[in-house]
Amino acid sequence: MTLQIKTLEGYHKAYDQSVNDPEGFWAEQAATFTWSQKWDKVLDWDFKGPNIKWFTGGKLNITENCLDRHLASRGDKIAILFEPNDVNGAAKSYTYKQLHAEVCKCANALKARGITKGDRVVFYMPMVPELAIGVLACARIGAVHSVVFAGFSAQALADRVNDAQAKMIICSDYNKRGAKTIPVKKVVDDAMAIGCDSIEATLVHRNTGEPIDLEAGRDHWWHYEVDHRSTSCPAEQMDSEDMLFILYTSGSTGKPKGVVHTCGGYMVYTCFTFKNAFQYQEEDIYWCTADIGWITGHSYIVYGPLLAGATTMMFEGVPTYPDAGRFWQVCEKHKVNQFYTAPTAIRALMAKGEDIPSQYDLSSIKVLGTVGEPINEEAWNWYNKKVGKEKAPIIDTWWQTETGGIMITTLPGITDQKPTYACYPMPGIQACLLDKDGVELTDNDVEGLLCIKFPWPSMIRTTYGDHARCKQVYFSTFEDKYFTGDGARRDADGRYRIIGRVDDVINVSGHRLGTAEVENAINQHPEVIESAVVGSPHDIKGQGIYAYVITSDKVGDHDEFRKELIAVVAKEIGPIAKPDKIQLVSGLPKTRSGKIMRRILRKIAANELSNLGDVSTLLNPEIVEEVKKGRLV
Ligand code: WTA
Repeated sequence: MTLQIKTLEGYHKAYDQSVNDPEGFWAEQAATFTWSQKWDKVLDWDFKGPNIKWFTGGKLNITENCLDRHLASRGDKIAILFEPNDVNGAAKSYTYKQLHAEVCKCANALKARGITKGDRVVFYMPMVPELAIGVLACARIGAVHSVVFAGFSAQALADRVNDAQAKMIICSDYNKRGAKTIPVKKVVDDAMAIGCDSIEATLVHRNTGEPIDLEAGRDHWWHYEVDHRSTSCPAEQMDSEDMLFILYTSGSTGKPKGVVHTCGGYMVYTCFTFKNAFQYQEEDIYWCTADIGWITGHSYIVYGPLLAGATTMMFEGVPTYPDAGRFWQVCEKHKVNQFYTAPTAIRALMAKGEDIPSQYDLSSIKVLGTVGEPINEEAWNWYNKKVGKEKAPIIDTWWQTETGGIMITTLPGITDQKPTYACYPMPGIQACLLDKDGVELTDNDVEGLLCIKFPWPSMIRTTYGDHARCKQVYFSTFEDKYFTGDGARRDADGRYRIIGRVDDVINVSGHRLGTAEVENAINQHPEVIESAVVGSPHDIKGQGIYAYVITSDKVGDHDEFRKELIAVVAKEIGPIAKPDKIQLVSGLPKTRSGKIMRRILRKIAANELSNLGDVSTLLNPEIVEEVKKGRLV
């Protein structure tokens, strides 16, 4: 069994061993899994390549570890508990035996359609059990899944399909979210019309049953393809470093990049962190409210919990439907023991009525978690008092798509907690802070750029199809360090507090967006000459999107223009990237080399007008006054 730390002393012991003898530490953890062939070498690495290899020579299949391994001891235990969008709809569940059978059936269906090891399969689906089944079915046969959040636009979907050169898209007919029904298959059709030449077939899961168009020869119903298949499917034996999945995420520049995770290390680390961060016990019901379209859903709805033999809940709906008590009603109904959500959801629910949680019996909750963005003290306190009744420790878990698993967190009931602090690194995580010249700040009570000094099993291996980009973004800023892109402070006792991104990534409601990506979308509007996007403080979302736009003279009606601009962004990326504020300007503050001075734009967007710093070295200092006085459209 994977180590579960129980005491403070145990944490220190594990941490020290993981630093002094990392290979020994991770080999012990890896040995608790099923491998068809043991590894020859625990770790091979250099951060210059980067070239990271864990458990080389080892052969395994992650689904044998998620499913088969549990059949004898937990076959009738619920693996996935599904709570639908409709509050009166019936919850559904799959035991480990049933989930194993469904995954095998789907895997056989994929094979029958010609999907083999190494092929990429894109998912564009709501939070229904078939999404988890499909993802695991890919892993079963060695196909590489790439889940695209179903809120992204057809263009964004097509971009990802093309980058991954995927052979198949698996989607649903429609998606129910709150009171809305969203035409999911229609978006796939639109993406295909834009051009997805690598796609040979789609598999369509019937979710709502409302009519859709199926293209003969290309589109196939899930139930025709899957339901009659055999419930056994041999698991493809994968090399430890074979690709498990690609997940696209935004960076400072260019289009989203495909973060690549591989089989062995990801398996070991997600299981280890799940068991320790949440202190999961055998009978517990665990609920993470994220979407499987993001890394949190991959690691802590699907893989981590199933590897640990847990009962993991999938929720199809939204926190505010039919009302702002929905999360708490679900916690009461299923007697949830560990609840994991995002600060933006906490702030939104707190704003709907501070006492709503007290209308529900939340006594089952043992651990509360947050992820995705910094949590402000007010939200932390409310979560602690009103949801946890000051009895459930809060874990503020810091990590990233690229890290694969939780990196810094309190271990509940074991290490201490402090509002707004993620606190301590997990065993195996050698976090450090650097100043901007790359000098490590070794004291406590300092602030700097958060980096990691040593590899951990679930770290990013490459960015799909572009290894140079991986090197440039994460391993070139500082020599021999993985650079996170986040700034952090370390208090006198060594606890970390994440301050936020120091690059051009905006965190909107816990969703990462690159300023360049949003600017590219805005620039698609025919009357836009140039634009600059920055994050600005937002009460609920954490950060909102503030766009400065230079337009041609042809823009007449500002109200109309604003609507058009928002529509362009929704079309290019998706509704999550819609600007909250748009300001028309005649120029943008630039350095003499022509770079936009975002620092100044960020301050103006935050209404911090008194302290803009020295603007005299700008190419066009006069523009600053205009931008300061400008009004939103
Ligand atoms: C931010 C989400 C503060 C951070 C798992 C990071 C956080 C980015 C926290 C990664 C936290 C994540 N406190 N900030 N607990 N967790 N972040 O890739 O800026 O969607 O770099 O992964 O979210 O976002 P991603």
